[in-house]
Amino acid sequence: MTHLPAEFWAFVAERIDDRVERGVRVFAAADLPSGEVTVRVDWSSVNYKDGLATIPNGRVARINPLIPGIDLAGTVIASDDPEIEVGTPVLAHGYELGVARHGGYAEYNRLPAGWVVPLPQGLTARDAMTIGTAGFTAGLSVARLEARGLSPVDGPVLVTGASGGVGRTAIAILVERGYETWASTGKASAHQDLLALGVAGILSREDVIAESARPLDPERWAAAVDCVGGATLPYLLRTLRYGGAVAASGNTGGAPFATTVFPFILRGVALIGIDSAALPIAERRSLWERLATDLRPRALGDRVTEVTLDGLPEALDAILAGQAHGRWLVRVAV
Ligand SMILES: NC(=O)c1ccc[n+]([C@@H]2O[C@H](COP(=O)([O-])OP(=O)(O)OC[C@H]3O[C@@H](n4cnc5c(N)ncnc54)[C@H](OP(=O)(O)O)[C@@H]3O)[C@@H](O)[C@H]2O)c1
Repeated sequence: MTHLPAEFWAFVAERIDDRVERGVRVFAAADLPSGEVTVRVDWSSVNYKDGLATIPNGRVARINPLIPGIDLAGTVIASDDPEIEVGTPVLAHGYELGVARHGGYAEYNRLPAGWVVPLPQGLTARDAMTIGTAGFTAGLSVARLEARGLSPVDGPVLVTGASGGVGRTAIAILVERGYETWASTGKASAHQDLLALGVAGILSREDVIAESARPLDPERWAAAVDCVGGATLPYLLRTLRYGGAVAASGNTGGAPFATTVFPFILRGVALIGIDSAALPIAERRSLWERLATDLRPRALGDRVTEVTLDGLPEALDAILAGQAHGRWLVRVAV
């Protein structure tokens, strides 16, 4: 069984004055935070928040220097928790990982036991990070919409930011569950891939940020999964069918938005907030069981780009520039 070495490789972001220096460094195990469970990290992934954690005005990093990486999957090499045995394949994401505590872009990490999710049967560590924080958020969005009563007979569901991590995985889950799923994307180059994934139709980004003189437009969508926010949310709210809902998780299109009360009081629609970071561990573990079974995304892993720690700067820059198409997986173990 592997033991924690005194030093290992890590990708570190360090703020120096008004710039952030990023790169692979030797990291001392003594500088890891305390925690019950020590993990050899095999895989991590690149999420939008990871990009923000490595730029000066990203407002995400809360320690300096920081090993970013808001998710990781690997194997337990030491444990003080009786319920998490050495040798267990595990994953972790959210809470303070990669934000206020060192994250997944390092060969080893130490975690509180209450953050650890045993890998569900049927998912490898690589599969788990192919889903990653983005896919978990997509699954949580679908689960919350269905808990409110959504089913495929209710009508079409629109997914925004469709080519990115949250969006594309939401489409892969919804299509597999029998929903008439539509995509909105700003990338013409993504159309063919989205059609192959099974979307019924595609809207342009301009379609879903267009302003309207009316507080309500014709009813179109039974529900929406939105990770874009900004000007997109008003469009979604005024085009939801009676009783519909939007699961809102992100802000790649901006944070503020302006709407009216009319979608809520005349059509009974709902705006459901989605947060994966602070979700309590029991719900997190049970949603991961579902991501391995009934919420498993269609064609898991067919649009994945693998990078090593050395390749992270390009991937982080690309996700911040809105160039995501599918998921970036980080092969941490060498
Ligand atoms: N609440 C949570 O727990 C949670 C968890 C994970 C992620 N998030 C948030 O969800 C969002 C997406 O994360 P992600 O990891 O999926 O990122 P991502 O892979 O970069 O995907 C985001 C997508 O948004 C679209 N987009 C980018 N810039 C845009 C702009 N200016 N206007 C409109 N659309 C734009 C692009 O899709 P198209 O080109 O196809 O339109 C892009 O691929 C982020 O805001 C992230 O912070 C929240």
